[in-house]
Order: sequence, then structure tokens, then C-alpha cells
Amino acid sequence: MKVAVLGTGDVGRALALGFATSGHTVTVGSRDRNSPQLRELLEAVGPKATGGTFAEAVATSELVVLATHGVATPEAIRIAGIPAFAGKVVIDATNPLEFHPEGPPSLSVGHSDSLGERIQALLPDAKVVKAFNIVGNPSMFRPEFPGGPPDMWICGNDSGAKATVTGILHEFGWPSVIDLGGIDGARLLEPLCLLWVRSGFAIGNFNIAFRLLRK
Ligand SMILES: NC(=O)c1ccc[n+]([C@@H]2O[C@H](COP(=O)([O-])OP(=O)(O)OC[C@H]3O[C@@H](n4cnc5c(N)ncnc54)[C@H](OP(=O)(O)O)[C@@H]3O)[C@@H](O)[C@H]2O)c1
Repeated sequence: MKVAVLGTGDVGRALALGFATSGHTVTVGSRDRNSPQLRELLEAVGPKATGGTFAEAVATSELVVLATHGVATPEAIRIAGIPAFAGKVVIDATNPLEFHPEGPPSLSVGHSDSLGERIQALLPDAKVVKAFNIVGNPSMFRPEFPGGPPDMWICGNDSGAKATVTGILHEFGWPSVIDLGGIDGARLLEPLCLLWVRSGFAIGNFNIAFRLLRK
């Protein structure tokens, strides 16, 4: 599959590497197609990935991954060009984090709305699926934990898009995918990121992920 990964941070790097290693063709998008961070990322990912602007990446892809700074994601989408997303599956890995000089981050939106819903509203002709936002980037591809693989939670309005994303998650080493239903499930998944961050600080270990115990 031809995949656009918008974002040159740690998540963009981890997911671009995951898609390339899984045999997909990846274009990584940045505001600046000549940015040193993009160049460095492409060197790390290898020949299966090329770089471009946000717009170039989306235009050449069948599936788009949003791995941009959470609060800036609507701006990144506008830069890419809203019509270019029409009909595409869009994986939203973002969290609307606000950082503070002291103390843990908070969410800029929550409870009765979410960034996932705002992205879907901005892209009415695309099929947005929230995924990957509840785990740290080092565990996004082939997560390895002594107790077995963690669970991944997803949500989105289009069942076909969620089936596509579930298949990708299986390829990435996530055998258990829990579908919360519509994109409004992002109201629950985005706060889980804060639970992940604060749990990491509480136990002094960020090699952590969530799992639903069953019996
Ligand atoms: N870090 C993690 O482990 C983790 C885990 C789960 C979810 N997340 C979420 O994943 C997303 C990416 O996180 P990250 O840590 O990899 O990177 P990040 O630093 O949050 O975002 C980097 C990307 O955002 C773009 N960006 C920044 N400001 C922008 C603006 N004003 N307009 C348009 N684009 C802008 C940058 O574009 P340029 O390339 O042009 O600089 C860059 O590609 C975030 O939403 C984060 O909350 C992170």
C-alpha cells in the first residue's frame, strides 16, 4: 500500500519504519521537504521511504497517517489540502496535548469533544480511525512485553476503514484490537495517553502499554 506519514517526530519515524519494514511504500511529509529532521528520518528508515511536503505525501498515497503535533494537526491538514484526503483512510495517532512549565501535560479538548472528532469534521470525505495514540513510540511497531502483546484500542465511523487499520495493526504485531465504535470514542482514547504518561512517572518506567485482562 502507498502510505503517507505526516510528521517527522518520534511517532512519524516509528510508524514510517513500521510501514516500510512491513513492505509498504512510504512518503513522509513535513512542512519543509528539505528539513534536516526529515532527511535524518529517511536515512534511518531506508530506501522504502521518500520525503516530501505534507501535500506531496497525501497526494501520492492511498492511506494517510497523522503523526503531527496534536494541537497543530488541523493546521497540518489545511497545509496538505483538505480535498486531497477525500476517500482515504486516515490513521489519527495524535493527542491534543498542552505542555506546561511544571507538572504533567493536559488535554486541550476533552469530555464532550475530542481531537479525533475535530479531525473527522475537518475531513468529512475521509475515513478517520484513531489508533496508536495510547502507547509510546518505541512500542508502536512489534511491541515486546514479557506478558505478551498489549491491546490496541481504535475507533472510527467507517467499518471498512477500521478493518484496514486492524489488518495493519496485526502486521505491526498487535494481535488484539478493541474497536470502541464511532470516532467519539476518541473522547476516551485521548485521555488514556495522559494515564500512560502519568503512570510512567508514577512507576519510573515508560516501557509500558495497556492490556485488558479477560477471564
Ligand atoms: N511521542 C510519542 O511517543 C507519542 C505517542 C503517542 C501519540 N503521540 C502523538 O503523536 C503526535 C506526534 O508526536 P511526536 O512526538 O512524534 O512529534 P511532535 O513533535 O508532536 O510533532 C512533530 C510534527 O508536527 C509538525 N508540526 C509542528 N508544528 C506544526 C504546525 N504549527 N503546523 C503544522 N505542522 C506542525 C512538525 O512538522 P515539521 O516536520 O514541518 O517540523 C512535525 O512533523 C502528537 O500528536 C503526539 O501527541 C506521541
